[in-house]
Amino acid sequence: MAHWPELAQRLELVLVEPNPGMAARQRQRLQGCPLPARWCVFEAQAHAPLQGVLLAHEVLDALPVERVIWDGVQWRPQWVVLQEGAPPGPSLRLAAGEPLDPQGDAALLNQLQRRGLLAAGGSTAPATALPPGWTTELHTATQPWLSAAAQALQCGVLLVIDYALEAHRYNAPARSQGTLMAYRDQRASGDPLLEPGAWDLTAHLCLECLDADASAAGWLPAGQCRQGQALLALGLAQRLHGLQQLPCDQLSAALAAREALLRLVDPAGLGEFRWIVYRQGSKSTGPVPLCLGEPLLG
Ligand SMILES: C[S@@+](CC[C@H](N)C(=O)[O-])C[C@H]1O[C@@H](n2cnc3c(N)ncnc32)[C@H](O)[C@@H]1O
Repeated sequence: MAHWPELAQRLELVLVEPNPGMAARQRQRLQGCPLPARWCVFEAQAHAPLQGVLLAHEVLDALPVERVIWDGVQWRPQWVVLQEGAPPGPSLRLAAGEPLDPQGDAALLNQLQRRGLLAAGGSTAPATALPPGWTTELHTATQPWLSAAAQALQCGVLLVIDYALEAHRYNAPARSQGTLMAYRDQRASGDPLLEPGAWDLTAHLCLECLDADASAAGWLPAGQCRQGQALLALGLAQRLHGLQQLPCDQLSAALAAREALLRLVDPAGLGEFRWIVYRQGSKSTGPVPLCLGEPLLG
């Protein structure tokens, strides 16, 4: 910001954070930040929509999902049920519900359709052969979030950074348990019911579904790439080169910084994150201020 004082004067950080504990950590982290910061909810901001860049970094993969199971004949929802039991007492388990029915479960069937998981012609069978017990998650909360975000922004772009898969990879017969994972203190578990409330739950996005949800919410696609490509285009190589120029007494700091930077582009890890950009549809007629692969990242 020191290099762009005039720009800095016109900027503020607006954080949308429903978790009070996270908001407290953010306030602490931003102490001393040269930019003014405030917290808001989308609904309130819709009365005074902003101009700018909306960054959703690992936000959409934290929204609630619905899980469904193909039992070999029909699609069923997967529910969390309370199971009575001997000490230490009741426990939670996952169970298949009644088959999805076109009347009551239209929203889930629409999501299956959008994911390419329903054969054509009104059938409720999967479009490709899936083994019985094949389970996946459907992102029913994404479109409401994208609509609320669109209302809060008068003009600008949305940058979504998340793990995301193309529908054909998401729907692969071998991905039989979907992508729902629990994380805590750098540990991962495939059991979403482990110590409920104590682990972060996350599910990958589906790229085609995200595009469809974004379009329905009034966003236009403006490009996407992997994090590794984005950071290289933003000057990662120069940053790495700069570290080599540091004096010898800063060697350990330089090595740690180098390792941290390389972790961000590791194709087997964070480098697989997708950077997905949308711009405002009907409201913005001006040039796209940011476009992956073009000036900023080119
Ligand atoms: C997985 S964390 C990622 C945080 C951040 N990217 C980081 O690296 O520290 C997801 C964050 O999104 C926040 N969040 C914002 N809006 C949300 C919403 N509507 N539903 C759930 N989480 C939301 C969560 O509270 C949490 O702070």
